[in-house]
Amino acid sequence: MKARILFRSAPALLALACLSAPALRSQEPPKPPAQHHPWDNKSLSPDQRADMVQKQLTLDEKIQLVHGTGWGALRPGAPIPPGDNWSAGFVPGIPRLGIPPINQQDSAVGVRLAAVMGRYSTLLPSTLGAASSWNPKAAQLYGEVIGRELRAQGYNMSIGGGMDITREPRNGRNFEYAGEDPLLAGTMTGNVEKGVKSQHIMSDLKHYAFNDQETGRTVLSANISKRAARESDLLAFEIAIGIAKPSGIMCSYNRVNGVYACENDWLLNQALKKDFHFKGWVVSDWGATHSTVKAALAGLDQEMPGDEGYFGEPLKKAVQDGKVPMSRLDDMDHRILRSMFAAGIIDYPVDPRSVVNPFQGRRDAEHIAEQSIVLLKNENNILPLDAASIHSIALIGSHADVGVLSGAGSAQVDAPGGNAIDPHPGSPRWQEVVYFPSSPLRYIRKHAPNAKVEFNPGTDNTSAANFAKTADVAIVFVNQPMSEGMDRPTLALPDNQDALVSAVAEANPHTIVVLETGGPVSMPWANQVQGIVEAWYPGIGGAQALANLLFGTVNFTAKLPVTFAKSDADLPHPEVPGINLKPVDHTVTFARNGKKVTRNFKELPLFDVDYNTAGAAVGYKWFEEKNISPLLPFGFGLSYTTYQYSDLKVDPQGRTATMTIKNTGQRAGAEIAEVYAELPTAAGESYKRLVAFDRVNLAPGEAKAVTLDLNPLCLSIYNVQKDAMEEIPGEYKILAGPSSADTPLAASFTLNK
Ligand code: BGC
Repeated sequence: MKARILFRSAPALLALACLSAPALRSQEPPKPPAQHHPWDNKSLSPDQRADMVQKQLTLDEKIQLVHGTGWGALRPGAPIPPGDNWSAGFVPGIPRLGIPPINQQDSAVGVRLAAVMGRYSTLLPSTLGAASSWNPKAAQLYGEVIGRELRAQGYNMSIGGGMDITREPRNGRNFEYAGEDPLLAGTMTGNVEKGVKSQHIMSDLKHYAFNDQETGRTVLSANISKRAARESDLLAFEIAIGIAKPSGIMCSYNRVNGVYACENDWLLNQALKKDFHFKGWVVSDWGATHSTVKAALAGLDQEMPGDEGYFGEPLKKAVQDGKVPMSRLDDMDHRILRSMFAAGIIDYPVDPRSVVNPFQGRRDAEHIAEQSIVLLKNENNILPLDAASIHSIALIGSHADVGVLSGAGSAQVDAPGGNAIDPHPGSPRWQEVVYFPSSPLRYIRKHAPNAKVEFNPGTDNTSAANFAKTADVAIVFVNQPMSEGMDRPTLALPDNQDALVSAVAEANPHTIVVLETGGPVSMPWANQVQGIVEAWYPGIGGAQALANLLFGTVNFTAKLPVTFAKSDADLPHPEVPGINLKPVDHTVTFARNGKKVTRNFKELPLFDVDYNTAGAAVGYKWFEEKNISPLLPFGFGLSYTTYQYSDLKVDPQGRTATMTIKNTGQRAGAEIAEVYAELPTAAGESYKRLVAFDRVNLAPGEAKAVTLDLNPLCLSIYNVQKDAMEEIPGEYKILAGPSSADTPLAASFTLNK
């Protein structure tokens, strides 16, 4: 009870300490009237309830629901309307009908912008890290944490749910996404959003679609054939929509085949709403709306944040003039209202008196991190470290004395107490490199209390090498900071860290590298070191999880959700498209409050990105098609035990695959079994596709027969003439094993016409 009182008072104190906050604090949200409405009846379906509300809406109320009113806390000094919870997006409610406002907040890896309001948010491992668990249950827990903390902070909609697939391994936002494979990304993100919804918070998937790089994201056109699109990026969304039934889908900034994603009939009306049966609403990315009539008719349902005013008065006029049918506006509103009922935000309104439990958040984050960190190399079993026999450990680089790296941009979570390496006052600056106070040095020391564990910052290679020379083991931490709004120019680690690793490895043969990266990187030193561990951005419990894994208190189970190329030259685009273009002047004109407004800004010129180069052959499929061997294959990850695969059988219809997996080592573990398919020759593909995976817990010596459902969409091709996914006749080869590059078992089934 005491703790609860303490936590309630802490936010208030912090808010007082925040100078600019009191002037901008919102008023209390207007309370819905106590009367009961017929649509309060929970036994009715969300669609029936939405229909009943809709009949009561005036035209102005209908328009009010389909655009937001500001950037809230994102834009210092912006007015905060009543009921706005300092949200990234705010849509006023309709109190007379008991419809609450929608408060949308960024929450890719935890809830954004908490500290400025005296609140706390848990930093989870990066989404890409969580995808490395290949564990839908861990993904669901991830979403539960986000949903729980959004609710506790008074938000009722997550605008996380990033899942653009890793077509561009140097994309600054890959850490917010779930890897390169449609089945893995769709399954993991779908389960994250299921977790969000379990807390009666509205969920979202983004950025739809092909926002696969940040360079020129508002001007580029991602060009791709319909078939390749449906079998790659769009397939990931299709799978996630099936699992999560999300409330919202955020359309992206970029153009697709020449048409802006937020006014792209093929993407929105055809694929998303007709083919994927998406029943929620399409919300524009912030400022990604470019028209009124075109966007409305193409399937955009809500303009956010509404600054440019395409869906305010102009939409009302377009409806009155008959340019946008009233039925289309009604459809927009229906989608929004039914999603509010379906997620439960009306039946279970957010309670402004609740508080985040940081301890539960830390525990959950650590638990997910333990399943997210991947063991990539373990020569001569240098790991797990044996605390009893090690006398000295040299820890080097990446501020491993104080914290772990996080990802920047709109996914940035506020670090408790501020950036662990630069505690300047106020919120983190845009694209700032922020470390969270989870110290690897501290937790490694805890596991090896009798050893001398010291730290060297790694800023001088000679000093780092001399420091490493006399230690029993050297652990070099390297980092790759990533952010929304910028890509890395190359796969190489920044700041000459490759030379640091080489210098240390030369000085000490027992060198282990811990990577804190947003995505895949090249490792020219891979043969020089004994151990490599990919920690991604491991979150607020990251150092604890890492130390548990390094010392073997917990076994490694994670596997790579992305291919690691040896070098940029092996990628479909050896250079990030557009990265060398120079910004030019752009102008947009729109109507705001009946007045013509012109906005000038600098951006790259319009340019095309050819996604037909790889087509649907993203990641491991590209490497297989081109016969290039990667540095590390998709689906790869080591453990402290070993597994043996046998007895693969596939049923004649190709619905399931059964195999036996045995733990042949001395330690308990969980093996991720991967099943791939090579489609009949008529598919015209020279690569295999992931069609199923499962995580199997095994005691030492234990063998289990497991049956996996093969995903029919992943066994299908998109037939352009029929505009449908279909399984084609012919022989399907099924392969199973521990990674995309190691599939010892094979079987087949044949589909007849
Ligand atoms: C990002 C979105 C984000 C939105 C609101 C945009 O710039 O692309 O992912 O949700 O801002 O912060």
